[in-house]
Amino acid sequence: MAASHSPSTWIVSSLLMSSLVVVALADGNFYRSCDVVWGHGGHALIQEGGDLLTLSLDKTSGSGFQSKDEYLFGKIEMQLKLVPGNSAGTVTAYYLSSKGETWDEIDFEFLGNLSGQPYVLHTNVFSQGKGKREQQFYLWFDPTADFHTYSILWNPQRIVFYVDEIPIREFRNLEFLGVPFPKNQKMRLYSTLWNADDWATRGGLVKTDWSQAPFKASYKNFRADACVWSSGSSYCSANKDAWFWEELDFGKKGQMKWVRDNYMIYDYCKDPKRFPQGLPTECAFSNLL
Ligand SMILES: *[C@@H]1O[C@H](CO)[C@@H](O)[C@H](O)[C@H]1NC(C)=O
Repeated sequence: MAASHSPSTWIVSSLLMSSLVVVALADGNFYRSCDVVWGHGGHALIQEGGDLLTLSLDKTSGSGFQSKDEYLFGKIEMQLKLVPGNSAGTVTAYYLSSKGETWDEIDFEFLGNLSGQPYVLHTNVFSQGKGKREQQFYLWFDPTADFHTYSILWNPQRIVFYVDEIPIREFRNLEFLGVPFPKNQKMRLYSTLWNADDWATRGGLVKTDWSQAPFKASYKNFRADACVWSSGSSYCSANKDAWFWEELDFGKKGQMKWVRDNYMIYDYCKDPKRFPQGLPTECAFSNLL
């Protein structure tokens, strides 16, 4: 099923059948891998020859960028350094999403806070337009002091959210129980910095202090080991096998339990008030570590 495209590249019509694929994917250079789509004219800047990207937010505008490529499964990694100081009211979103009414989406959102108060890391998974799967965490470090790595593993069996290689959340493919799983729609990576002071910090009680603007978040080392979608085919990274079959071993599950026991502050699976018809099906599996 594979046709030769160029000496180093193979096009595969079925990614599941492919093993011979060699493509250099997002290599950390933002000029090559991403486009600024919001905040032209200075709010979003690619710097240091493409190694660094900064987003900023002030009263006139937020900013954002997106990957040039679209993916169907992959391991997406980025290092982020979040808005320091008084970041209350700001949200830095970093997510994969498809298009259309029955879209799929895998979200990291960082909700800012007053100086010295903890950011909230908000996560969600949408499959076929249905979300309501929020889980929130505090972080075990100051995400504004340094760059930290935030990754999304998305393969046919599972979605895993990682912070510095530590898994914090797993959403498994439970299609056999009737839970839709994102696996047919290509997704793009997006990141935005915007004002959400109507809800973000302490439920909207703390407003953005514009005297602190501009607010800035920085990005580096974007890496996508992924299958890249292009005109109906997908081109997979050379080390596809590593992430395509990745699962959480005993040690990783232990790390995830540590995070969830100590840093998780909200879990939709523990909020039966929201689901009068009963908790979502996948919740029955969330304790099976
Ligand atoms: C901000 O700090 C308050 C007080 O410590 C905390 O309750 C809240 O979860 C923090 N984060 C957000 C996004 O409100």
